[in-house]
Amino acid sequence: MHILHVVGARPNFMKAAPVIAAFREHGVRQTLVHTGQHYDAFMSDIFFQQRDIPEPDFNLAVGAGSHAAQTAEIMTRFEPVVIQCCPDLVVVYGDVNSTAAAAFVCAKLLIPVAHVEAGLRSGDRTMPEEVNRLVTDQLSDLLFTPSEDGDRNLLREGVASGKIHRVGNVMIDTLIKLLPAARRVRRDDGVFLAPYALVTLHRPSNVDDPDTLRTLVHTLNAISRDVTVVFPVHPRTRKRIEDLGGWTGAGNVRLVDPVGYVEFLALQMHATVVVTDSGGIQEETTYLGVPCLTVRENTERPVTVTIGSNLLIGRDMERLVVEVGHVLAGRGKKGEIPVLWDGSASRRIAGIVIATHAERTGQVVAAVR
Ligand code: UD1
Ligand code: UDP
Repeated sequence: MHILHVVGARPNFMKAAPVIAAFREHGVRQTLVHTGQHYDAFMSDIFFQQRDIPEPDFNLAVGAGSHAAQTAEIMTRFEPVVIQCCPDLVVVYGDVNSTAAAAFVCAKLLIPVAHVEAGLRSGDRTMPEEVNRLVTDQLSDLLFTPSEDGDRNLLREGVASGKIHRVGNVMIDTLIKLLPAARRVRRDDGVFLAPYALVTLHRPSNVDDPDTLRTLVHTLNAISRDVTVVFPVHPRTRKRIEDLGGWTGAGNVRLVDPVGYVEFLALQMHATVVVTDSGGIQEETTYLGVPCLTVRENTERPVTVTIGSNLLIGRDMERLVVEVGHVLAGRGKKGEIPVLWDGSASRRIAGIVIATHAERTGQVVAAVR
């Protein structure tokens, strides 16, 4: 059996790593394709250095572009690779352009696709990720969901129940594996010693409109009068801040480059509160029980709100200031950990893929351990 994995952007790497490791335990032949959607050292290379994810066999080096240009470029460069490799299954992750582009190519070539993190829906088609999720799920043959809402969304959209497998959250597999390393992280700038708010923002809806971004800058400056703000700045956001003429206004906001996974996990663990618009960070804070204030009107990860430590703030900046105040006063949401977010989602995926392959072909993949 030959499995080809496609990754391209930061949140793909921590999802693919445990899945690749789980197939490795079974001795499955694997090929890793990096589309090059993310390419800066701190958005890509650092994850391959830190994690037990192998170096990609192919890097398509597509780089940045408009949605159409980037998606088309990924498809054009991926097609000959997948034809050359002729895998039994292509595994795609999450909801980025690389995910949908690869699924589309495989569907046309009649190569089976497995989607890890299937079924998530924000219901908001102004988000490019929502379009990617809808397309990818319709084109996939195996759909691995992290939570029950994912199953329901897929069934409502007419996906056959036999294709849907609730396995839990692979991102949490990585978190659990690397928690001991994160606990060992020491910073020499004293960041962990005093309370701080950890911030990440990169959604186009928050950072691409100058007025919205200006309001966010103003609000974070205001928050930083009560608590230090640590803000690893995504490259999209960095460019938009530069377009505004740089970060202005007094306050205690520490703008830094994005950091590696283990360091970022340590930053989350020690944070008093996390303010974000990231998808994955809503899940990681839920697992860690760290209060998370999400600067979005909706979320495709509702269990982080109904069960976890996440609160949707929307665009109401006054409310953001008030909610940060509540957390600082010790009234932050702690929540609980959703079922199946237990560190074994990837092993379940490997088991299901191997069993499905055996049913189809009669070939059994022997475990090497
Ligand atoms: C992408 C995903 C988003 C995900 C995010 C994770 C899509 C549609 N969006 O958003 O779902 O949450 O990644 O971080 O796939 N850039 C660099 N260096 C890099 C990468 C990007 O400078 O290594 C800059 C480029 O100017 C680029 C811009 O950031 O144009 C946006 O990059 P892109 O990958 O298109 O979208 P993201 O905002 O990163
Ligand atoms: N992350 C990281 N370094 C950072 C910021 C985030 O390693 O400086 C990790 C974070 O822990 C999570 C993932 O990146 O595992 C989330 O990716 P991102 O927010 O870029 O994408 P999204 O989840 O919103 O699609």
